[in-house]
Amino acid sequence: MCGIVGYIGKRQAAPILLDGLSKLEYRGYDSAGMAVYDGEKINIEKTPGRLKVLEETTHGGELMPGMIGIGHTRWATHGTPSRENAHPHFNSSHTIAVVHNGIIENYIKLKETMAKRGYKFVSETDTEVLAHMLDYYYKGDPIETIVKVMHRVEGSYALGIIFTDCPDEVFAVRKDSPLVIGKGDGENFIASDVPAILKYTREVYYIQNEEIARIGTGDIKFYNIDAEPIEKELCSIEWDMNAAEKGGYEFFMMKEMMEQPKVIRDTYTPHIKGDNVVFDELKDADIDFSSLASVHIVACGSAYHAGFTGKYVIEKMARVPVYVDLASEFRYRDPILSSDDVVILISQSGETADTKAAIEEAKKKGAKTIAIVNAKGSSMTREADYTIYTEAGPEISVATTKAYSAQLIILYLLAIKISDARGVIDAEERKQLISDITRLPEQVEMVLNNKERIQKFANRYIAAKDIFFIGRGIDYAIAVEGALKLKEISYIHAEAYAAGELKHGTISLIEDNTLVNAVLTQEDLYDKTISNIREVKSRGAFVMAITNVGHSKIEEVADYVVYIPETNRYFTNTLAIIPLQLFGYFVSAGKGYDVDHPRNLAKSVTVE
Ligand code: F6R
Repeated sequence: MCGIVGYIGKRQAAPILLDGLSKLEYRGYDSAGMAVYDGEKINIEKTPGRLKVLEETTHGGELMPGMIGIGHTRWATHGTPSRENAHPHFNSSHTIAVVHNGIIENYIKLKETMAKRGYKFVSETDTEVLAHMLDYYYKGDPIETIVKVMHRVEGSYALGIIFTDCPDEVFAVRKDSPLVIGKGDGENFIASDVPAILKYTREVYYIQNEEIARIGTGDIKFYNIDAEPIEKELCSIEWDMNAAEKGGYEFFMMKEMMEQPKVIRDTYTPHIKGDNVVFDELKDADIDFSSLASVHIVACGSAYHAGFTGKYVIEKMARVPVYVDLASEFRYRDPILSSDDVVILISQSGETADTKAAIEEAKKKGAKTIAIVNAKGSSMTREADYTIYTEAGPEISVATTKAYSAQLIILYLLAIKISDARGVIDAEERKQLISDITRLPEQVEMVLNNKERIQKFANRYIAAKDIFFIGRGIDYAIAVEGALKLKEISYIHAEAYAAGELKHGTISLIEDNTLVNAVLTQEDLYDKTISNIREVKSRGAFVMAITNVGHSKIEEVADYVVYIPETNRYFTNTLAIIPLQLFGYFVSAGKGYDVDHPRNLAKSVTVE
């Protein structure tokens, strides 16, 4: 949720730190700060509010001399967003500065101990405890000091640390919170997320849990929690630099929605070989898809909604029971699992705390775990038994669009794979399904091309108080995601209902002109949903319907119709979500909101 950037090299650090932090703004934050070593002492500047304020107070970083520094954007967890609570935090003698992402769970106990030892606290944060602990244990060897602190803290952390005693080095360490080290030419970087340093280097080391990096201008050394040196592999980032830039769009969300045709193509391409679906990632997997007892899909937010669609598709196509759980529930409900079950975890960031905990829970129970992840090298890719990547590239907007669409594609492909193994589809059907998947990019493009029409419609609903989304079967799964897209970025109350459930209570909320967005893409449920549309219309609702081209009968009941191209009944959600994403976007943009940074939300939820 927070962002970390660190620099060591021959250039002035502060402007680079500010630039890097600006690339992490999408993660959500409420204060920002930097610590730079000027050759004699460490100077800290920090402010509540937007990064712009820090840029102004430091004249774009120019007022902070020095070529070694660490920067941070904070999303408040312990204490209000204030200057005192913003990072970096100092030890009392201002010889050690630290930035921290994550939560130190035993910080109250540690704080009491440090207070007894005479340490004075100026903030309410858990991070300041770390600064004082580093001070307490420091006897001249920074690695030994960091290790001693690591042994005493519980919780999650990614830390950037500078010591005046080590004027040519920056230190980094992590546990359950992401951190990468960027290797440049005579300069090196640390960052909580790749976009922060992509402008400067594409060569990175992914630090794993409980590993420490000691970073000079040239050399980077790594240690484990026993302070023993370890070797790490240098990886290349293949993302296009433009992927982390807005490229002329007003908001990342629009750019990312427009990228969906390419993302879908990039995601299915490695898995389609002729008329077969292949997952090289599962080639040596100890999973027999033909005899699976059940499939569990576990995730949070939109990734959970992708899993919800996955349930309908896999169950209907492969005839195997599929259970979908919110990760925050799954991890504590003592799920019944065995080695005949497979648990699919879905996550864009690969760092979501609850989904990570769900992997642990599933493994403990003996189930096989497959993670569907977008962020390369993220924690889940190491923790799950197998990883399948979505190829969405960096997703910057807090509200997910392209990563969600990529997740659907992997789920469709897995449905085909499982169906094939179970012998419930024949070669002809498989070929047709694959061909339908490969038509989706072009069809998504067609829906996107209609965006001005959705914009005009959305403009009418800028002042709406409540909007409802309804659908049956797989259309209900898309209604749920459509409602989330709208509410998280427009702050309009939105609810998704299984269309048949409305009359069991919710219909009493429908008033004159309440907008109801109805999704009808399933031939067999079409008339049923039309009846539900009639029910809300007779209570005064205004209905926008999203349906397949050719179903013009809908125009007799709905007030406004958006058609999506004809596809296989399993894959309609990939097309039906596009108008709903656009709708949410245009309502938010029409209200003048910062679409990419909805209030109170963070891109990567690394705390429980
Ligand atoms: C909504 C959204 C969130 C995420 C959720 C899971 O637009 O982006 O609901 O889907 O926080 O995040 P990941 O996929 O990173 O695990």
